[in-house]
Amino acid sequence: MEAKKLGLVLGISTIVAAFTMVLHLLEAPQVQHALLGEFNFIIPAMLKGASSSGKYQLGVLLPNLTSCHESMGRSDLPVYCCPPMNQSDVAFIDFQFPDPSLPLRVRRPTHLLDENYIAKYKKAITIMKSLPDTDPRSYSRQANLHCLFCTGAYYQQHSNSPLNIHRSWLFFPWHRMLIYFHERILGGLIGDDTFALPFWPWDIPEGMVIPEMYMKAPFFHEARDISHFPPSVVDLDYSCTASSSDDYGCFESGLGPEDQVYTNLVMMYNQMVAGAKKMELFMGCPYKAGEGGSCNGPGTLELAPHNTVHKWVGSNLNPGSRGRDMGVFYSAARDPIFLSAPCQYRPSLGSLDEAPWEQGYQ
Ligand SMILES: *[C@@H]1O[C@H](CO)[C@@H](O)[C@H](O)[C@H]1NC(C)=O
Ligand SMILES: *[C@@H]1O[C@H](CO)[C@@H](O)[C@H](O)[C@H]1NC(C)=O
Repeated sequence: MEAKKLGLVLGISTIVAAFTMVLHLLEAPQVQHALLGEFNFIIPAMLKGASSSGKYQLGVLLPNLTSCHESMGRSDLPVYCCPPMNQSDVAFIDFQFPDPSLPLRVRRPTHLLDENYIAKYKKAITIMKSLPDTDPRSYSRQANLHCLFCTGAYYQQHSNSPLNIHRSWLFFPWHRMLIYFHERILGGLIGDDTFALPFWPWDIPEGMVIPEMYMKAPFFHEARDISHFPPSVVDLDYSCTASSSDDYGCFESGLGPEDQVYTNLVMMYNQMVAGAKKMELFMGCPYKAGEGGSCNGPGTLELAPHNTVHKWVGSNLNPGSRGRDMGVFYSAARDPIFLSAPCQYRPSLGSLDEAPWEQGYQ
């Protein structure tokens, strides 16, 4: 029951966030964090109820979209992910709810996709990858959004505090917003307003290896750990040393496939149910607007399997790169598999034995 309630909270926060954000949030980057130097945001409507007596500002946490600047991809790596145009010259468009009479979009797990579906997705992503950087719908611009919002490339409005979408309750709504618009852009490129992104169901035994489709163009990506290619079973509790450590490295569980699947299921139960009995444990800490409003307390799913799968997929070839591309915030979204994360995708996170993808959403 608890998991269902949390699912509901998540669903509501997603809608709230999508409603409150303007389309141009998609132009923005992300925040960094201590554990991975990669993967941090806020629930605007909840902030309206925040006490005005605290140090943080009362109000909605929003990026100042004209404040885009060079940011730190890692403590030692400056990156510039800003859009090419002058943001002051861009008109912002307020989000509108879709027409309720439109058909539902149903996101499906990768192991249940048919050839036609994969062909559609392939066509959409190929067109997206062919668009120039000046087009905000292009693949590189979409990927840069994660970089912008995870490295603090935007300040908050009326503040010099960077906006970060990881390690707080902003994690779910921001990522869901990214995917919401990304999915509509893909659908728009192929003229299909029912197009829905698939997701990699790494939390069920059928999905615990990298899905076959991500091993082929245009979904394949070179900067990955080859030793984790199929039939390697994903380790949802994959651990690495802190990104800042000189002898950076990750550790293989050494478990055989059956034991790894079992351990993963136990891990999922802990992160979804046993270890997430209060809202903040699951969602992350309340991140509020302004100086003093930030917090550092990722929810259970953000820590694992979200962070751990990022690291597990990223390349191990050059320890200096700290697991690029998937293993580091600023580069993660360059890999198409980034857009397949189940904890960000599912319309609701119900109990583990349900099939939430059957529900659809608009
Ligand atoms: C962007 O546009 C604003 C207003 O139009 C102008 O004041 C500013 O100098 C421009 N910035 C750059 C970098 O061109
Ligand atoms: C946004 O940033 C620009 C440039 O850094 C600054 O001039 C402007 O006052 C900021 N706006 C808000 C609402 O904070």
